[in-house]
Amino acid sequence: MILKTADSKKDIFYLINKYSRVISRVEAEMLLEFLFNCEKLDLYVRDFIINKTIEELYDMLASRRLNGESVQHITGRAEFMGLDFIVTKDVLIPRPETEILVNEILGAGFIAPKILDLCTGSGNIAVSLAKSMPQAEIIATDISENALKIAEKNAVLHQASAGIKFYKGNLFNALMFAKNPKFDIIVCNPPYIKEAEIPFLQKEVRSEPLIALNGGKDGLDFYRDIAKESRKFLRKGSSILLEMGFGQREAIEDIFLSYNIFSIYRVIRDFSGIERAIWINLL
Ligand SMILES: C[S@@+](CC[C@H](N)C(=O)[O-])C[C@H]1O[C@@H](n2cnc3c(N)ncnc32)[C@H](O)[C@@H]1O
Repeated sequence: MILKTADSKKDIFYLINKYSRVISRVEAEMLLEFLFNCEKLDLYVRDFIINKTIEELYDMLASRRLNGESVQHITGRAEFMGLDFIVTKDVLIPRPETEILVNEILGAGFIAPKILDLCTGSGNIAVSLAKSMPQAEIIATDISENALKIAEKNAVLHQASAGIKFYKGNLFNALMFAKNPKFDIIVCNPPYIKEAEIPFLQKEVRSEPLIALNGGKDGLDFYRDIAKESRKFLRKGSSILLEMGFGQREAIEDIFLSYNIFSIYRVIRDFSGIERAIWINLL
């Protein structure tokens, strides 16, 4: 609700700056967008009454943030590829780095590809692809039933349900009941954190589902499984696009090249210069 006033003493900038030493401006804006149910731009072009109740509500949201809850979990929303996604504690919060995978696929000129989004989580990759490539046929899978429910909600929210089928299961086992499960592209942002590193992650990250983070002893379990199993599900000359963690590129290349059926087409760096995504082709 947006309230107009001519004479409030405290304005929106008072709230934006109230926790500026501990909450970033972007996060303060996100909390206020949530509080006033408005767009970011509205915060700067409209007048809001900042009364005691509003300030107390804002303080409550800010204290949750200060206690280590992420803004996205507080608001239940996260932005990805310019779209708003529903997020809960059952899904990983979509990260900007993951947009690399989507942009690579969108930029490659596929006409009506058949795509498998393994480990779909909130459905951010599958839904963004379906929105931009309505001709694509997409299957999205996850081992978590609760995550899949959120992914399906996001598909409905963005009117992308017609282009995506969802299946539950452990990696490729999820395709047991899928018709003709052969793909032009497999895309996946798998769990890739080393198990022993998880207790040392930031509190916000530790509040995300453990199964979305844990990549096993060396963080590479999922890459090994995908390299081993993917061939049966790929058409000749098709592609695998994977997100990866800091310093994992060489080991991932070794895993795939050891099968003598894959070639490394491209490695893509993120905004911080970290090798973040790898594009592998089936020979
Ligand atoms: C890193 S999250 C990625 C979520 C989303 N695709 C994204 O990019 O934000 C990994 C996802 O893999 C799922 N997952 C974990 N183990 C799995 C398995 N064995 N088979 C299928 N999905 C699994 C988790 O539930 C989680 O949703």
